[in-house]
Amino acid sequence: MKRTTYAGLIDESYLDQTVTLSGWVQKRRDFGDLIFVDIRDREGIVQLTFNATNQSALTVAEDMRSEYVVAVTGKVIKRDESQINDKIKSGAVEVDVTSAKILATSKTPPFYIEDNVNANEELKLQYRYLDLRRPEMQKNLRVRSKIMSSAMHFMDTHDFINIETPILAKSTPEGARDYLVPSRVFPGSFYALPQSPQLFKQLLMGAGFDRYFQIARAFRDEDLRGDRQPEFTQMDVETSFMTADEIRALVNEWVKAMMHDVVNFDLDTTTIPTLTWQESMDRFGTDKPDLRIAYEIHDISDIVSNSEFGVFANAVKAGGVVKAIAVPGGADHYSRKDIDKLAQYIERFGAKGLAWLKVTDDGLTGPIAKFFKPEDSQALIAGVGGQTGDLLLFGAGRNDVVSATLDYLRRQTAADLDLVDKTNPWAFAWIVDWPLFEYSEDFDRWIAAHHPFTMPNEEDLHYLDDGEDPHKAHAQSYDLVLNGYELGSGSIRIHRMDIQEKMLKALGFTPEKAHEAFGFLLEGMEYGFPPMGGIALGLDRLAMLLAGQENIREVIAFPKNSRATEPMTEAPTRVETKQLNELGLFVPEAE
Ligand code: AMO
Ligand code: AMP
Repeated sequence: MKRTTYAGLIDESYLDQTVTLSGWVQKRRDFGDLIFVDIRDREGIVQLTFNATNQSALTVAEDMRSEYVVAVTGKVIKRDESQINDKIKSGAVEVDVTSAKILATSKTPPFYIEDNVNANEELKLQYRYLDLRRPEMQKNLRVRSKIMSSAMHFMDTHDFINIETPILAKSTPEGARDYLVPSRVFPGSFYALPQSPQLFKQLLMGAGFDRYFQIARAFRDEDLRGDRQPEFTQMDVETSFMTADEIRALVNEWVKAMMHDVVNFDLDTTTIPTLTWQESMDRFGTDKPDLRIAYEIHDISDIVSNSEFGVFANAVKAGGVVKAIAVPGGADHYSRKDIDKLAQYIERFGAKGLAWLKVTDDGLTGPIAKFFKPEDSQALIAGVGGQTGDLLLFGAGRNDVVSATLDYLRRQTAADLDLVDKTNPWAFAWIVDWPLFEYSEDFDRWIAAHHPFTMPNEEDLHYLDDGEDPHKAHAQSYDLVLNGYELGSGSIRIHRMDIQEKMLKALGFTPEKAHEAFGFLLEGMEYGFPPMGGIALGLDRLAMLLAGQENIREVIAFPKNSRATEPMTEAPTRVETKQLNELGLFVPEAE
């Protein structure tokens, strides 16, 4: 019984044809002399009917159970009018089976294999191959596959050369914690899995390839979130002799082609806004703004610096800021209790409270309204762009805390009130002119905002000179944002040794330490490296968004859970003492 087509492709165009199908039993309904079986394959589901006219097939159908693998031959016929199901492609037809065979039986699966099934996430990951049978998961991985082939095609037709770089690489201080692999040949020495191919792609530019491309796996031992996995995939690009503007134009062209190929969307890249990092932080409190939400953050520090409301006046006096958002229609939607819940949530950002007011026809209401005289109220409402019916939410204090708080509140309230603009499904944005350095609370020192090889703006180069403040410098770097997610990140690189040395010095590297960490790159730079720049797009995030998902796990076949373990294989696991001995490693017995 050789399959002639996929079950999920059968529709009225197959009427009266005899087909042979292979697939999994989705469900069986037994009425004695009449049995209905839905079978599923990668394209979808079709209903089979078995009846007494074909007794041998009917007998086989009696034994069919969920997830059995079966092959059937039969004729495509119209369904009874009353049986038509508009929700599936094959909903108007069914297959009248003349012969059937069971190819494999199945135990009862630990959860029902159906979209939106309410099963424990850990259990689904443990039996990932069953979860992947769901139509939604099949679709997700196909979106991912399409993105990859679209990218390959674009890169190939734009003269990029696909070059692989090592997975067993050298540990270099790049930002996140490394995954280490012990060397057997040199006990006590370790390879590191690459956090990105960054240094290799720069060396490839040094080698004269001019245009490099790779769909590269990257590894970072960091805390996981919905859009972060310990291993993930980048569409990694590097070019020589191109400006930042030219690289962004190229990426726009690439994204346009991809949006067309994958989701059949005609993206007008001329409408993609470019914001400076500062503007993005001021207007949205984040470097990855969701531009589908219309309301923005307003700085009202000047308006409230002498306010009778002590929280505001004191924040400004202490050198902080007072900022606010006006949530359209929020006044009726949020109760005091709802606002208390938001206030509790934002404690994680360091917020000390959540002052709020409601805008009514008669002015402001709420517990702190008494502190605002009518004329102050008008100035305040104007300052935040408020309208009758709005809920005003305030942050007062340190700018970074206020920004993080209002960024969250903006996104959360937009989700609560359905204020995310659906007419603009793909809100891309470029964020440019980033600070070269950022202060890391974790390390308690300045670190490279992007990475140590990012080229400062031409006019900011002098900040790296002795006696100046390097932290004032901004960089020729750019991020591509989509719907509030950081999709990609790139920059023009330092290709000159003198600038690189100053940069490393500003990061606190002694010449010896710098040589130890990146000697091979620094040495390369002394042999004529071209001006270069590039970008890496997070393919998992792109696939997640294009597939309409909210967690990158949904577009990765075998992802890790939030504790960075893989519940199906149970990796990471302990290994045999013999293996450890070969590697010269000693690991204490498990408790
Ligand atoms: P960056 O570190 O910003 O840049 O990474 C590029 C893109 O990769 C995605 N990404 C991730 N996706 C899933 N899980 C993670 N843990 C994760 N971390 C990052 C993001 C991000 O924008 N070498 C530079 C690029 C360059 O300068 O060319 C780099 O790796 O979408
Ligand atoms: P308090 O005077 O501390 O009782 O606060 C009055 C109101 O201001 C309460 O609604 C607090 O949640 C809010 N509030 C206190 N501190 C801040 C702050 N730093 N930013 C925003 N609102 C605050």
